[in-house]
Amino acid sequence: MTMLNPKAEAVLRTNYQKSVAAYWNNNPNDDRVNTVLGEVDGLYHHHYGIGEPDLSVLEGPENTRQERIVEELHRLETAQADLLLDHLGDVRPGDRLMDGGSGRGGTSFMANQRFGCQVDGVTISEYQVGFANDQAQHRGVADKVRFHFRNMLDTGFDSGVMRGIWTNETTMYVDLFELFREFSRLLESGGRYVCITGCSNDVTGGRSSSVSWIDAHYGCMIHPRSEYFRAMAENDLVPIDVVDLTAATIPYWELRTKSELATGVEKPFLTSYREGSFQYLLIAADKVGR
Ligand SMILES: C[S@@+](CC[C@H](N)C(=O)[O-])C[C@H]1O[C@@H](n2cnc3c(N)ncnc32)[C@H](O)[C@@H]1O
Repeated sequence: MTMLNPKAEAVLRTNYQKSVAAYWNNNPNDDRVNTVLGEVDGLYHHHYGIGEPDLSVLEGPENTRQERIVEELHRLETAQADLLLDHLGDVRPGDRLMDGGSGRGGTSFMANQRFGCQVDGVTISEYQVGFANDQAQHRGVADKVRFHFRNMLDTGFDSGVMRGIWTNETTMYVDLFELFREFSRLLESGGRYVCITGCSNDVTGGRSSSVSWIDAHYGCMIHPRSEYFRAMAENDLVPIDVVDLTAATIPYWELRTKSELATGVEKPFLTSYREGSFQYLLIAADKVGR
Protein backbone atom coordinates (compact mmCIF):
# COMPACT_ATOMS: atom_id res chain seq x y z
CA MET A 1 0.00 0.00 0.00
CA THR A 2 1.38 3.47 -0.92
CA MET A 3 2.19 5.58 2.16
CA LEU A 4 0.93 9.15 2.06
CA ASN A 5 1.48 12.10 4.39
CA PRO A 6 -0.19 11.66 7.84
CA LYS A 7 -3.12 13.96 7.01
CA ALA A 8 -3.84 12.06 3.78
CA GLU A 9 -3.52 8.72 5.63
CA ALA A 10 -6.22 9.91 8.05
CA VAL A 11 -8.61 11.01 5.27
CA LEU A 12 -8.00 8.20 2.77
CA ARG A 13 -8.65 5.08 4.74
CA THR A 14 -8.70 2.43 2.05
CA ASN A 15 -6.71 1.60 -1.03
CA TYR A 16 -9.85 2.25 -3.02
CA GLN A 17 -10.20 5.78 -1.60
CA LYS A 18 -6.53 6.41 -2.37
CA SER A 19 -7.09 5.41 -5.97
CA VAL A 20 -10.18 7.64 -6.27
CA ALA A 21 -8.22 10.57 -4.81
CA ALA A 22 -5.34 9.91 -7.20
CA TYR A 23 -7.76 9.92 -10.12
CA TRP A 24 -9.22 13.32 -9.16
CA ASN A 25 -5.78 14.71 -8.40
CA ASN A 26 -4.56 13.87 -11.86
CA ASN A 27 -6.90 12.82 -14.66
CA PRO A 28 -5.74 14.78 -17.70
CA ASN A 29 -8.12 13.21 -20.19
CA ASP A 30 -11.44 13.71 -18.40
CA ASP A 31 -10.14 16.84 -16.76
CA ARG A 32 -9.65 18.56 -20.10
CA VAL A 33 -13.44 18.54 -20.64
CA ASN A 34 -14.08 20.00 -17.19
CA THR A 35 -11.46 22.72 -17.36
CA VAL A 36 -12.34 23.85 -20.88
CA LEU A 37 -16.05 24.05 -19.96
CA GLY A 38 -15.22 25.79 -16.66
CA GLU A 39 -13.27 28.45 -18.49
CA VAL A 40 -16.52 29.60 -20.15
CA ASP A 41 -17.60 31.57 -17.06
CA GLY A 42 -15.43 30.39 -14.16
CA LEU A 43 -17.89 27.83 -12.75
CA TYR A 44 -16.11 24.47 -12.82
CA HIS A 45 -18.35 21.41 -12.87
CA HIS A 46 -17.53 17.72 -12.78
CA HIS A 47 -21.00 16.51 -13.63
CA TYR A 48 -23.25 16.14 -16.67
CA GLY A 49 -25.97 18.27 -18.17
CA ILE A 50 -29.73 18.23 -18.61
CA GLY A 51 -32.23 19.96 -20.87
CA GLU A 52 -32.69 20.65 -24.55
CA PRO A 53 -29.53 21.80 -26.29
CA ASP A 54 -29.70 24.60 -28.81
CA LEU A 55 -28.70 22.60 -31.87
CA SER A 56 -28.09 25.74 -33.91
CA VAL A 57 -24.59 25.66 -32.33
CA LEU A 58 -23.79 22.92 -34.85
CA GLU A 59 -24.47 25.29 -37.71
CA GLY A 60 -22.64 28.46 -38.65
CA PRO A 61 -18.89 29.07 -39.06
CA GLU A 62 -16.82 25.90 -38.69
CA ASN A 63 -13.87 27.63 -37.06
CA THR A 64 -15.96 28.56 -33.98
CA ARG A 65 -18.23 25.48 -33.89
CA GLN A 66 -16.29 23.70 -31.12
CA GLU A 67 -16.42 26.82 -28.96
CA ARG A 68 -20.20 27.02 -29.37
CA ILE A 69 -20.59 23.33 -28.46
CA VAL A 70 -18.49 23.85 -25.32
CA GLU A 71 -20.61 26.81 -24.21
CA GLU A 72 -23.78 24.84 -24.77
CA LEU A 73 -22.56 21.78 -22.85
CA HIS A 74 -21.54 24.08 -20.00
CA ARG A 75 -24.97 25.76 -19.99
CA LEU A 76 -26.63 22.34 -19.62
CA GLU A 77 -24.29 21.36 -16.76
CA THR A 78 -25.14 24.59 -14.95
CA ALA A 79 -28.86 23.88 -15.54
CA GLN A 80 -28.35 20.50 -13.85
CA ALA A 81 -26.86 22.16 -10.75
CA ASP A 82 -29.68 24.72 -10.72
CA LEU A 83 -32.24 21.93 -10.68
CA LEU A 84 -30.44 20.27 -7.78
CA LEU A 85 -30.48 23.56 -5.81
CA ASP A 86 -34.19 24.03 -6.59
CA HIS A 87 -34.81 20.93 -4.46
CA LEU A 88 -32.96 22.11 -1.34
CA GLY A 89 -36.14 23.80 -0.06
CA ASP A 90 -36.20 26.83 2.19
CA VAL A 91 -32.58 27.83 2.85
CA ARG A 92 -31.84 31.09 4.71
CA PRO A 93 -28.65 33.18 4.72
CA GLY A 94 -27.93 32.03 8.30
CA ASP A 95 -28.09 28.35 7.35
CA ARG A 96 -25.21 26.05 6.58
CA LEU A 97 -24.98 23.67 3.63
CA MET A 98 -22.58 20.88 2.77
CA ASP A 99 -21.47 19.74 -0.69
CA GLY A 100 -20.41 16.07 -0.43
CA GLY A 101 -17.68 15.45 -3.00
CA SER A 102 -17.38 19.07 -4.07
CA GLY A 103 -15.01 18.77 -7.04
CA ARG A 104 -13.80 22.17 -8.19
CA GLY A 105 -16.68 23.84 -6.34
CA GLY A 106 -19.10 24.88 -9.13
CA THR A 107 -22.31 23.82 -7.35
CA SER A 108 -21.07 25.23 -4.00
CA PHE A 109 -20.56 28.70 -5.51
CA MET A 110 -23.97 28.58 -7.15
CA ALA A 111 -25.56 27.65 -3.78
CA ASN A 112 -23.83 30.53 -2.01
CA GLN A 113 -24.89 32.92 -4.77
CA ARG A 114 -28.49 31.77 -4.54
CA PHE A 115 -28.96 31.45 -0.77
CA GLY A 116 -26.23 33.76 0.59
CA CYS A 117 -25.34 31.15 3.20
CA GLN A 118 -22.24 29.31 4.37
CA VAL A 119 -21.26 26.32 2.26
CA ASP A 120 -18.70 23.69 3.20
CA GLY A 121 -17.45 21.51 0.39
CA VAL A 122 -15.59 18.28 1.12
CA THR A 123 -13.53 16.27 -1.31
CA ILE A 124 -10.80 13.66 -1.03
CA SER A 125 -8.76 15.38 -3.74
CA GLU A 126 -6.21 17.78 -2.22
CA TYR A 127 -5.72 19.31 -5.64
CA GLN A 128 -9.44 20.13 -5.89
CA VAL A 129 -9.49 21.63 -2.39
CA GLY A 130 -6.68 24.00 -3.35
CA PHE A 131 -8.26 24.90 -6.68
CA ALA A 132 -11.71 25.57 -5.19
CA ASN A 133 -10.38 27.60 -2.24
CA ASP A 134 -8.42 29.75 -4.72
CA GLN A 135 -11.65 30.26 -6.61
CA ALA A 136 -13.42 31.27 -3.39
CA GLN A 137 -10.71 33.90 -2.77
CA HIS A 138 -10.93 35.10 -6.32
CA ARG A 139 -14.72 35.41 -6.08
CA GLY A 140 -14.50 37.24 -2.75
CA VAL A 141 -16.57 34.61 -0.89
CA ALA A 142 -13.83 32.80 1.05
CA ASP A 143 -15.47 33.83 4.34
CA LYS A 144 -18.61 31.86 3.36
CA VAL A 145 -17.53 29.10 0.98
CA ARG A 146 -14.80 26.77 2.20
CA PHE A 147 -13.41 23.57 0.84
CA HIS A 148 -11.95 20.87 3.04
CA PHE A 149 -9.76 17.86 2.44
CA ARG A 150 -12.09 15.47 4.23
CA ASN A 151 -13.86 12.20 3.66
CA MET A 152 -17.62 12.60 3.29
CA LEU A 153 -18.06 9.27 5.10
CA ASP A 154 -16.49 10.80 8.19
CA THR A 155 -16.43 14.59 7.91
CA GLY A 156 -15.60 15.51 11.50
CA PHE A 157 -18.22 18.31 11.46
CA ASP A 158 -20.50 18.62 14.49
CA SER A 159 -23.83 16.76 14.54
CA GLY A 160 -27.06 18.49 13.48
CA VAL A 161 -25.38 21.60 12.04
CA MET A 162 -26.37 21.29 8.38
CA ARG A 163 -29.65 22.62 7.00
CA GLY A 164 -28.98 20.87 3.72
CA ILE A 165 -26.53 18.48 2.11
CA TRP A 166 -26.19 17.48 -1.51
CA THR A 167 -24.15 15.07 -3.55
CA ASN A 168 -23.78 15.86 -7.22
CA GLU A 169 -22.55 12.66 -8.91
CA THR A 170 -20.43 11.44 -6.03
CA THR A 171 -22.38 8.61 -4.39
CA MET A 172 -20.99 6.01 -6.81
CA TYR A 173 -17.65 6.25 -4.97
CA VAL A 174 -18.90 5.20 -1.55
CA ASP A 175 -20.97 2.74 0.43
CA LEU A 176 -24.44 4.30 0.65
CA PHE A 177 -25.24 2.97 4.11
CA GLU A 178 -22.09 4.54 5.55
CA LEU A 179 -22.70 7.77 3.64
CA PHE A 180 -26.29 8.26 4.72
CA ARG A 181 -25.44 7.41 8.34
CA GLU A 182 -22.99 10.32 8.28
CA PHE A 183 -25.41 12.67 6.47
CA SER A 184 -28.21 11.81 8.88
CA ARG A 185 -25.89 12.68 11.76
CA LEU A 186 -24.94 16.03 10.17
CA LEU A 187 -28.44 17.17 9.19
CA GLU A 188 -30.66 19.10 11.54
CA SER A 189 -34.12 17.67 12.11
CA GLY A 190 -36.18 18.45 8.97
CA GLY A 191 -32.98 19.17 7.00
CA ARG A 192 -32.90 18.25 3.33
CA TYR A 193 -30.61 15.92 1.39
CA VAL A 194 -30.52 16.11 -2.42
CA CYS A 195 -28.72 13.64 -4.62
CA ILE A 196 -28.18 13.54 -8.37
CA THR A 197 -26.70 10.27 -9.50
CA GLY A 198 -26.54 7.63 -12.16
CA CYS A 199 -27.80 4.26 -10.95
CA SER A 200 -28.36 0.87 -12.47
CA ASN A 201 -31.97 -0.13 -13.02
CA ASP A 202 -33.10 -3.05 -10.83
CA VAL A 203 -36.00 -3.66 -13.20
CA THR A 204 -33.70 -4.75 -16.03
CA GLY A 205 -31.79 -7.16 -13.78
CA GLY A 206 -28.02 -7.29 -13.13
CA ARG A 207 -25.61 -4.64 -14.36
CA SER A 208 -25.24 -4.28 -18.10
CA SER A 209 -21.90 -4.29 -19.89
CA SER A 210 -22.26 -0.55 -20.56
CA VAL A 211 -22.70 0.17 -16.84
CA SER A 212 -19.58 -1.92 -16.13
CA TRP A 213 -17.74 0.07 -18.82
CA ILE A 214 -18.67 3.36 -17.08
CA ASP A 215 -17.49 1.94 -13.74
CA ALA A 216 -14.19 0.91 -15.30
CA HIS A 217 -13.72 4.30 -16.99
CA TYR A 218 -14.14 6.31 -13.78
CA GLY A 219 -13.06 3.69 -11.22
CA CYS A 220 -16.42 3.93 -9.49
CA MET A 221 -19.06 1.43 -8.31
CA ILE A 222 -22.49 2.40 -9.62
CA HIS A 223 -25.23 1.28 -7.23
CA PRO A 224 -28.61 -0.15 -8.13
CA ARG A 225 -31.56 2.22 -7.72
CA SER A 226 -33.07 0.16 -4.88
CA GLU A 227 -29.97 0.57 -2.73
CA TYR A 228 -30.49 4.34 -2.48
CA PHE A 229 -33.92 3.91 -0.95
CA ARG A 230 -32.88 1.07 1.36
CA ALA A 231 -29.93 3.07 2.69
CA MET A 232 -32.05 6.21 3.13
CA ALA A 233 -34.81 4.35 4.97
CA GLU A 234 -32.24 2.82 7.30
CA ASN A 235 -30.89 6.29 8.15
CA ASP A 236 -34.04 8.38 8.77
CA LEU A 237 -33.97 10.02 5.34
CA VAL A 238 -37.48 10.10 3.87
CA PRO A 239 -37.78 10.82 0.12
CA ILE A 240 -40.02 13.72 -0.85
CA ASP A 241 -39.13 13.96 -4.55
CA VAL A 242 -37.77 11.47 -7.03
CA VAL A 243 -37.21 12.74 -10.56
CA ASP A 244 -36.07 10.50 -13.39
CA LEU A 245 -33.74 12.75 -15.42
CA THR A 246 -32.71 10.07 -17.91
CA ALA A 247 -34.64 11.50 -20.87
CA ALA A 248 -33.44 15.01 -19.98
CA THR A 249 -29.75 14.05 -20.05
CA ILE A 250 -29.66 12.02 -23.30
CA PRO A 251 -29.56 15.15 -25.57
CA TYR A 252 -26.54 16.43 -23.59
CA TRP A 253 -24.69 13.18 -24.32
CA GLU A 254 -25.71 13.28 -27.97
CA LEU A 255 -24.27 16.79 -28.27
CA ARG A 256 -21.10 15.70 -26.44
CA THR A 257 -20.40 13.10 -29.12
CA LYS A 258 -20.02 16.06 -31.54
CA SER A 259 -17.39 17.72 -29.36
CA GLU A 260 -13.65 17.40 -29.89
CA LEU A 261 -13.49 16.92 -26.11
CA ALA A 262 -15.42 13.62 -26.25
CA THR A 263 -13.60 10.98 -24.19
CA GLY A 264 -15.18 7.80 -25.54
CA VAL A 265 -17.37 7.30 -22.47
CA GLU A 266 -20.27 8.86 -24.39
CA LYS A 267 -20.99 5.49 -26.01
CA PRO A 268 -21.74 3.44 -22.86
CA PHE A 269 -23.74 6.33 -21.37
CA LEU A 270 -25.95 6.60 -24.44
CA THR A 271 -26.30 2.82 -24.85
CA SER A 272 -27.20 2.20 -21.21
CA TYR A 273 -29.61 5.13 -20.97
CA ARG A 274 -31.34 4.15 -24.20
CA GLU A 275 -31.62 0.46 -23.33
CA GLY A 276 -32.89 1.35 -19.82
CA SER A 277 -30.12 -0.35 -17.82
CA PHE A 278 -28.88 2.96 -16.38
CA GLN A 279 -30.89 5.88 -15.00
CA TYR A 280 -30.07 9.47 -14.11
CA LEU A 281 -31.97 10.27 -10.93
CA LEU A 282 -32.59 13.17 -8.58
CA ILE A 283 -33.69 12.17 -5.10
CA ALA A 284 -34.61 14.70 -2.41
CA ALA A 285 -35.17 13.46 1.13
CA ASP A 286 -35.91 14.96 4.53
CA LYS A 287 -34.21 13.99 7.75
CA VAL A 288 -36.81 12.86 10.25
CA GLY A 289 -36.35 12.53 13.99
CA ARG A 290 -33.39 13.89 15.92
C1 LIG B 1 -17.76 13.33 -10.48
S1 LIG B 1 -16.95 14.37 -9.29
C2 LIG B 1 -18.27 15.46 -8.84
C3 LIG B 1 -17.79 16.79 -8.30
C4 LIG B 1 -18.86 17.83 -7.96
N1 LIG B 1 -19.88 17.29 -7.11
C5 LIG B 1 -19.46 18.44 -9.19
O1 LIG B 1 -20.67 18.25 -9.42
O2 LIG B 1 -18.77 19.15 -9.91
C6 LIG B 1 -16.77 13.27 -7.89
C7 LIG B 1 -16.20 13.93 -6.65
O3 LIG B 1 -16.40 13.06 -5.53
C8 LIG B 1 -15.26 13.18 -4.69
N2 LIG B 1 -15.22 12.02 -3.77
C9 LIG B 1 -15.19 10.71 -4.08
N3 LIG B 1 -15.17 9.97 -2.95
C10 LIG B 1 -15.22 10.83 -1.91
C11 LIG B 1 -15.23 10.69 -0.49
N4 LIG B 1 -15.20 9.48 0.08
N5 LIG B 1 -15.27 11.81 0.26
C12 LIG B 1 -15.29 13.04 -0.30
N6 LIG B 1 -15.29 13.24 -1.65
C13 LIG B 1 -15.25 12.15 -2.43
C14 LIG B 1 -14.11 13.29 -5.66
O4 LIG B 1 -12.95 13.79 -5.03
C15 LIG B 1 -14.72 14.27 -6.68
O5 LIG B 1 -14.54 15.59 -6.24
